[in-house]
Amino acid sequence: MFANKFAALFTALVAAASVVSAAPAEDFEPHITAPTAGAVWHIGSTQNVTWDTSNIPPSNVNQTGLILLGYLVDGSEDEHLDGQHPLAVNFPITAGYASVVVPDVAPRDDYIVVLFGNSGNASPQFTITA
Ligand SMILES: *[C@@H]1O[C@H](CO)[C@@H](O)[C@H](O)[C@H]1NC(C)=O
Ligand SMILES: *[C@@H]1O[C@H](CO)[C@@H](O)[C@H](O)[C@H]1NC(C)=O
Repeated sequence: MFANKFAALFTALVAAASVVSAAPAEDFEPHITAPTAGAVWHIGSTQNVTWDTSNIPPSNVNQTGLILLGYLVDGSEDEHLDGQHPLAVNFPITAGYASVVVPDVAPRDDYIVVLFGNSGNASPQFTITA
């Protein structure tokens, strides 16, 4: 819930910035459609992160993506993104999904994944369990 508000704020800031700079490459945030809020991932299992590819600007069609795992404590804006251990790298953003192996992390119920195109978009909070 909070992640979505933060993402919306971020979108607004990016939109405001791009009006000013009129950069040729558009900023876009592929909307994450899985994991959904409250999803449960088991450590060691293979899961798909999926996203909406319907609004990818032509200038971004050849772009590759990066998916990071983080967690978001309610009331905080710190996404605790683990940049040292990306879940997926160098996949085409047009694919709409990336398969990830759930890492051996401490169980929590406030994990998020963030998909970076040229800006980031966060999933809702979900659970990783043993
Ligand atoms: C991920 O999505 C692809 C494409 O739809 C599918 O072939 C694959 O079976 C999915 N994998 C999992 C773990 O759901
Ligand atoms: C994307 O890649 C294809 C094939 O290499 C190329 O023809 C096309 O011009 C590229 N598009 C952009 C926007 O870079």
